[in-house]
Amino acid sequence: MTEHTPSDEIDPDASADTARTPAAGDVTADWNPRGPSVRRDPLAAYDGMRSYCPVARGVSGAWTLFAHADVTGAARDSQTYSNAVSRYLQVPNGLDGPTHTSYRALVDRYFTRERMTAVEPVVQRVARELVAELDVPGRIDAVAVGSRFAVRAQCAWLGWPADLEDELLRWMADNHAATRSRDRARTAQVAERFDAIIRSLTAARRVAGEHAPDDVTTELVRDRVEGRELTDEEIVSILRNWTGGDLGSMALCTGVVLTYLADHPDLQDRLRAGVSDRELDAVLDEILRIDDPFVANRRVTTEPVRVGGRQLAAGDTVFLNWTSANRDPKVFGDPDAFDPVGNAPYNLVWGAGKHVCPGRPLATLELRALTRAVLDATAVVEPDPGRPRQRGLPPVGGFSAAPLRLG
Ligand code: HEM
Repeated sequence: MTEHTPSDEIDPDASADTARTPAAGDVTADWNPRGPSVRRDPLAAYDGMRSYCPVARGVSGAWTLFAHADVTGAARDSQTYSNAVSRYLQVPNGLDGPTHTSYRALVDRYFTRERMTAVEPVVQRVARELVAELDVPGRIDAVAVGSRFAVRAQCAWLGWPADLEDELLRWMADNHAATRSRDRARTAQVAERFDAIIRSLTAARRVAGEHAPDDVTTELVRDRVEGRELTDEEIVSILRNWTGGDLGSMALCTGVVLTYLADHPDLQDRLRAGVSDRELDAVLDEILRIDDPFVANRRVTTEPVRVGGRQLAAGDTVFLNWTSANRDPKVFGDPDAFDPVGNAPYNLVWGAGKHVCPGRPLATLELRALTRAVLDATAVVEPDPGRPRQRGLPPVGGFSAAPLRLG
């Protein structure tokens, strides 16, 4: 029931031992998306699958596409690869065709250049204030910093009260744990809690009528699609998508970006010397390409299709593995070589095709603001040798804990 999670690569039947060893008795499976090798070193596991078995069947029967060409092809072919993968309403990501186009037009209006210019100073203030609360010199977990920042920035953007911060942080942690547990009742309960928070905010705006605060949430309550107001269910779905999944994605992106800078002092020095927003955005995209924490999204085939030499039937579930596609040597050569300008045209961090991320301008400006705030407040960001990093467990990518030292 989670939406727009960093990866919805949930494979309820996964139980096998290694990434390439299928579950006992399951002779048709090529890999286990949640096996130990993925848990130990996800990038190496995906790199291996891409080179040995680029279209692979998981132990639940779902396919995963690992190659850049196949992932891009599927993302661009929304006739064959449908987004109607869930029995829950998911606006706009679970919609196809003209219905998707209508709702997507509504969503896109919230991320225009004018709106982003207006929200930028707010996000910058949130970033500066948060970084001012950190000890310098001192130690941080970059993912925890990213979580708190994401919640504060989203609350400021949506017009939500600051006292929701701790409740939303608790919710993020519970949502994460519930998704990983694959316990449907638990996931549904956590989702219900989030819906209740959102419904209280939208209900307050309806009651306030013309006295409702002038913010994005009020606009959404009053917005129209196909000539009518949005239903509560649709508003909840849209807001759940913008917050439920994206807060977690922002936290993971922060972990990956700050860790990369800690590991690459030369790059850090270059950024400290001064770069334009445009250059910094390209750097952030390239760091996220190398270690994309937003692992995969799901599709379902509408007809039989042949891809990478394998035959998929109509109705098969297919995961587009962005993390793997973003490291395909056929496109990027050495996947770890840092080339923000050269690799930009092929970067899939924000997806491709009709469902490409509409929130990219906001996510980018948030990441840029936080990165600048951290660099401005410190002389150095370094790895913390005393505390080990922890990789995010599938279906999530990036790090679950990214300890760093600020000096
Ligand atoms: C923080 C880093 C983020 C990453 C890496 C990311 C990545 C992506 C990707 C890869 C997709 C394509 C999904 C698919 O093809 O099935 C997507 C879709 C989407 N993203 Fe993001 N996203 C991020 C943040 C955000 C934010 C902050 C928002 C909104 C506030 C947002 C809203 C959406 C929506 C609504 C969709 C679905 C679009 C559609 O189906 O037409 N994302 N995102």
